Amino acid sequence: MSKRVLGGAVIGYGGMGHFHGGQMQRIDGIELCGVFDIDPAQQADAEKNGIHAYESREALLCDPRIDVVVIATPNDVHKEIAIDAMEHGKNVVSEKPVTLCPADLEEMIAASERTGKLFTVHQNRRFDGDYLLARHVMETGVLGDVFRIESRVQGSRGIPSGWREEKEHGGGMLYDWGVHMLDQMLYFMRGTKLETVYSVMTHITNTECDDGFSVMCRFANGVEWIIEIQTNNFIQLPRWYVLGTNGSLIIEDWDMNGRIVTVTDTTKNDSLPVVAGAGITRTMAPRTDETTHTLALPAKDYPTDWDSYYLNLIHALNGETDILVTHDQQRLLVHVIEAIFRSAETGEVVHL
Ligand SMILES: NC(=O)c1ccc[n+]([C@@H]2O[C@H](COP(=O)([O-])OP(=O)(O)OC[C@H]3O[C@@H](n4cnc5c(N)ncnc54)[C@H](O)[C@@H]3O)[C@@H](O)[C@H]2O)c1
Repeated sequence: MSKRVLGGAVIGYGGMGHFHGGQMQRIDGIELCGVFDIDPAQQADAEKNGIHAYESREALLCDPRIDVVVIATPNDVHKEIAIDAMEHGKNVVSEKPVTLCPADLEEMIAASERTGKLFTVHQNRRFDGDYLLARHVMETGVLGDVFRIESRVQGSRGIPSGWREEKEHGGGMLYDWGVHMLDQMLYFMRGTKLETVYSVMTHITNTECDDGFSVMCRFANGVEWIIEIQTNNFIQLPRWYVLGTNGSLIIEDWDMNGRIVTVTDTTKNDSLPVVAGAGITRTMAPRTDETTHTLALPAKDYPTDWDSYYLNLIHALNGETDILVTHDQQRLLVHVIEAIFRSAETGEVVHL
């Protein structure tokens, strides 16, 4: 017997709304019933693309063909729309950040429990190739015990114009790329307690919202994970820089250029002094090839996976598997975000 194809719809047909519409049209097991956007220009664009634009949110939510609604509006209205959709009997995928504070998230989770509807979040960057590759290298043990991970993205155009520049809509970089990079960290480190965060934020191009931040996260097993997002950088640092007891990893960019360098003989640590600026140093003398080994990255084996998020959603809605992004994962992420804001405001280390 063939399986029923799920009905999907999108609320908020902007940049990400178009992405979700495309995913529902492309991936087997779900079909796009239509979209709704408060902007008439986006409604017209949907119709131009051959996609039904519902005349109102209510009309969309009352269509019995729709099983799941994806919310791709600005961040401050995810909560209201998600609760409304669940109360109309729809399963919900919210774009990230799920919402702006822990209390709001609890209201959303309560609606899910009250209505029995699935409620999850689009944490698609768990499937980025560079992240899958960094995870793979760390998990193989080739670096020895990993003790420091640095995860960065850097642009040079400030915050994109529009609602992302405005605090009331949940603007700023912590709610933007920050959510993705924190989710990547928490998902990789799950099972190990995050003990403290210390953060600083920048306001170089925007006084209202953070246009960048650095956060140092310390885990119970001693691992330090640094996340940095900046938007005024005209020279970029690598996407990933990972240190282990036995080697280092660098992934330069989203094309996954980079390398692994491991040490082959730690007994040969001595060096002759080299000139360094106005002095000499043995400590910082570069290693010779004789005690290191350079490995190419198996980047081709870790392409970005465009399908698995939706396939998991479809299988979970069909009762065949568990949903990937759980309520508890979202609770932790929202608490960590709150702690990062608090640390930046107070200048203090925040204990979780
Ligand atoms: N997961 C990802 O990779 C990713 C990437 C980009 C954006 N996002 C998230 O997606 C969401 C949307 O971002 P975007 O870049 O598409 O923004 P956008 O500005 O391009 O689109 C938002 C759309 O929502 C519409 N809208 C606003 N309020 C609405 C309402 N009450 N009801 C219906 N429509 C409404 C706007 O008219 C606009 O067309 C944000 O939460 C953002 O953080 C996620």
